[in-house]
Amino acid sequence: MDIDTALSQRYSARAYRQTAVPPATIRQLLAQAQQAPSWCNTQPWEPVVTATPAATDAFRQALWDHVQAGAMPRPDEPFPARYEAEHDRRRKDCGKALYEAIGIPRADRAGALRQTLQNFRLFEAPHVMLVFCRRSLGFYGGVDCGVYLQSFLLAAQAAGVATVAQAALASYPEVARQHFDVAEDRRLLFGVSFGFADPAAPINGFRTQRAGFEQAVRWVD
Ligand SMILES: Cc1cc2nc3c(=O)[nH]c(=O)nc-3n(C[C@H](O)[C@H](O)[C@H](O)COP(=O)(O)O)c2cc1C
Repeated sequence: MDIDTALSQRYSARAYRQTAVPPATIRQLLAQAQQAPSWCNTQPWEPVVTATPAATDAFRQALWDHVQAGAMPRPDEPFPARYEAEHDRRRKDCGKALYEAIGIPRADRAGALRQTLQNFRLFEAPHVMLVFCRRSLGFYGGVDCGVYLQSFLLAAQAAGVATVAQAALASYPEVARQHFDVAEDRRLLFGVSFGFADPAAPINGFRTQRAGFEQAVRWVD
C-alpha cells in the first residue's frame, strides 16, 4: 500500500470482529512502528501489547470494573481543560458525526455517555496496545511516542488491521500500571485498540474531514 492510500484510508474503527490478529502480523506492525524517528534516537516508547483476546479481556475487565466502581480519572498528563475556537468546533463536529452515525440524538445524554464508556471496553477490540514513557523525558518523550503512534496506525492500515487511538485509556493509569506491572516512573500516554473492523457496524461508517493544509500552514515565499 502506498503512503497516500494508507494516510487517506485510515480511520478510527470503534467496532471490531472477535477474530484475533495473527501474532506474526502484530509482530510485523510492531517491527515497522519501531522504525519511527525520535529525539537523539532515544526510542522512548514502551508499549504493552495484548497478544491474545484472553489477555485483552483480562485488562478490559479490570478497567471496566474500575470505571464501574466510580473511580475518578487521574491521567498522568492533564487532559485539555478547554478547547478554543476552531478546535472546539472540530471537536463538536466530530462528536456530532459519531453520534449521528449510531442514531443517538443530540439531547440523549445517557446514550452519549453509554457510547463514551465504550472507550473503557476497548470498543470490544481483540487487542490493545498501551504506550508508556519514562516520566523524566517530559514533553518530547510524548512527541516521540506520538510519532510512534502514527507509524503503528499506518503500518496497521497497510496490513488491513483497524485501529483506534485512545487518550481515554490514559484516564486511569493506575489500573494499567498495576495490571501489567509497570513502574510508577512510567507515564501512560495513550492506548490503541486494534483488530479487524466490523464493516457492518454503523459506527465504522462515518469519516471525519480535515481542513485544507492552507488553513494550518503559514506559507512564506
Ligand atoms: C492521541 C489521540 C487520542 C485519541 N483519543 C481517542 C479516544 O479516547 N477515544 C476515541 O474514540 N477516539 C480517540 N481518538 C481518535 C480521534 O477521535 C480521531 O483520530 C479523529 O476524530 C479523526 O478521525 P479518524 O481517526 O477517523 O481519521 C484519538 C486520536 C488520537 C490521535
